[in-house]
Parts: sequence; C-alpha cells; structure tokens
Amino acid sequence: MKKLSIVLLTCFLIVFIFSSFSIEKSTIPQEKTVEIKSLPTEVSKIIEQKCFGCHNSESRNEDAREELSFDKWDDLNMLKKLSKTKEVHQTVSEGKMPPKRFLERFPDRKLTEEEVKVIVDWANKELGK
Ligand code: HEC
Repeated sequence: MKKLSIVLLTCFLIVFIFSSFSIEKSTIPQEKTVEIKSLPTEVSKIIEQKCFGCHNSESRNEDAREELSFDKWDDLNMLKKLSKTKEVHQTVSEGKMPPKRFLERFPDRKLTEEEVKVIVDWANKELGK
C-alpha cells in the first residue's frame, strides 16, 4: 500500500511538473522588439514592452495574433487603423489589456497610470475626440 502511494505521488508530481512547463511555454511571451513607424515613439515603446509579446504575427497566442499584430500595424489601411485604435482605446481605458490572468503571473507587465494616459491621449487624438 505504501509503495502504491509512492508510485502515485511520483506520477502526480511528474504530471504536475510537465503541465506547469507547458503552461509556462504557452503564456510567456517571447521577448521581441518592433518599431511601429506610424505610431508616436512613446506609444510604440509601451506597446512593444507590454503588448507585443502576444500581439505579433508569429505569436503562439492565436487569439491575440488574430485580433491584432502590431508588427503589421503600419500596413493597415486608414479605416482599419482607426477601428483598431478604437479597440485599443477601449481595452486600455477599461483595464482589459494585458489580460488579468496574464498579469497575475507577470504583474510587471501591467500598464502604469502614466502609460495608460499616453495611450488613451494618443487614441483620443487619432479618433478626433
Ligand atoms: C498575454 C497576452 C496578451 C497581452 C500581453 C496583451 N494582449 Fe491584447 N489580447 C490578447 C488576447 C488573447 C486577445 C483576444 C481575446 C480577448 O479579447 O481576450 C486580445 C485582444 C485584444 C484586442 C481586441 C479587442 C478585444 O477586446 O478582444 C485589443 C485591442 C488588444 N488585445 C490590445 C492589447 C494592448 C493594447 C495590449 C498592451 C497594453 C495587449 N492587448 C496586451 C492577449 C494579450
């Protein structure tokens, strides 16, 4: 009986270790850099640090990639840029991005008040508000 529980415990540990590995792999954004020419430098810098890890065209995060790939931002037409700017404004001002679950693991990726203001001010200007 004792042996069995040791075997079970070992199995559990192995599964646990492996599953936490794959979580790490799928949620840690790769460190990548991008310069988004059609955005002001200060906005581009924030996006690079806080958003680009998920929102890039090679991202393993499919939902994020499909919604928005910041390395393709410069290629968007004006209408598309405006509609994406609107979404960025909304998600950032409501504190929806970066996602809460992600911030629990990487609290340093949270936007500071200052960064929120830079993005919201920029978006308001773009949207003529
Ligand atoms: C941990 C990965 C991750 C990070 C970091 C992240 N996002 Fe997202 N983002 C997602 C995912 C996944 C979706 C699509 C599903 C959803 O809406 O939750 C998304 C969707 C969006 C959308 C589409 C609108 C919407 O509500 O679905 C916008 C706009 C957006 N993100 C902006 C940003 C901005 C701006 C940042 C940086 C401040 C950022 N994201 C950081 C994962 C991320």
